[in-house]
Amino acid sequence: MRFEIITIFPGFFAGFFEHGILRRAQADGLVTIGVHDLRTFTHDRHRTVDDRPFGGGEGMVLKPEPLCEAFQSLDIARKTERIGDSRTRVILTSAQGRPFTQAIARELAKLERVVLVCGRYEGVDERINELYCDQELSIGDYVLSGGELAASVVLDATMRLIPGVLGNEASGEFESFGVADAAIFTDEAGVPRSQHGAGGLLDYPHYTRPAEFGGLKAPEVLLNGDHQQIRKWRREQQLRKTLANRPDLLEHAALSDEDRRILREIAAGKAEKTP
Ligand SMILES: C[S@@+](CC[C@H](N)C(=O)[O-])C[C@H]1O[C@@H](n2cnc3c(N)ncnc32)[C@H](O)[C@@H]1O
Repeated sequence: MRFEIITIFPGFFAGFFEHGILRRAQADGLVTIGVHDLRTFTHDRHRTVDDRPFGGGEGMVLKPEPLCEAFQSLDIARKTERIGDSRTRVILTSAQGRPFTQAIARELAKLERVVLVCGRYEGVDERINELYCDQELSIGDYVLSGGELAASVVLDATMRLIPGVLGNEASGEFESFGVADAAIFTDEAGVPRSQHGAGGLLDYPHYTRPAEFGGLKAPEVLLNGDHQQIRKWRREQQLRKTLANRPDLLEHAALSDEDRRILREIAAGKAEKTP
């Protein structure tokens, strides 16, 4: 899969590409990334990429012509001429966009090419959005000073879902916001078999050695090797965390009758917090 990033700060990405899973995915040839300096597509002495907004007001706006030339150099035609090409998606990073989610990352991970346009100043001339961009994505309800961080977030969340990038193929499914359904992998007691979060819930808390740290013990149940008890505990922790931090996710989560019973108990303050 190839990512193309269009930015006025190409140097921003240098360190980001060189670490962890993303570095390995590139070394293994699963991901390639092109970073394109928008100023390359200007023709004046000052390499001007911005101009004052029509109608007055604060700040500057990224001009349409350099972006249009950048698209041409990448062989990306206008949207109207790309109808039927479902392998490429052009994304405008924008605080006004649709919220970026794990579901969108999963969708993007199936494509051949994702083009990420990084805005700056007050944003990008809207005609670029209308003519070239398939999707406007926001990474959260706050305003960043540029789209580079947003593009990095979209790229990172997407590339780790490309088949072969994560060591364990299933691990993208069994973590926070994962698709794996509670009903698919359950044991005889109805407890999900997954070792991570799943079914649209948040992940459960993780612990490692030492067994005691800062006066706090790791939960006893995780140390005793009883895998059914461990799965049960983890599931309850997922439910607890999701209820506390993201109750909105419960509406669409895959919940068993047992899950619902536990949720009622947690809400009523009855369920034990940590064994
Ligand atoms: C200072 S912001 C522009 C804010 C814009 N005037 C507004 O109020 O929506 C500059 C650039 O940062 C990026 N950006 C800012 N916040 C973002 C967010 N929450 N998600 C994605 N991109 C964002 C966009 O590329 C945007 O064009």
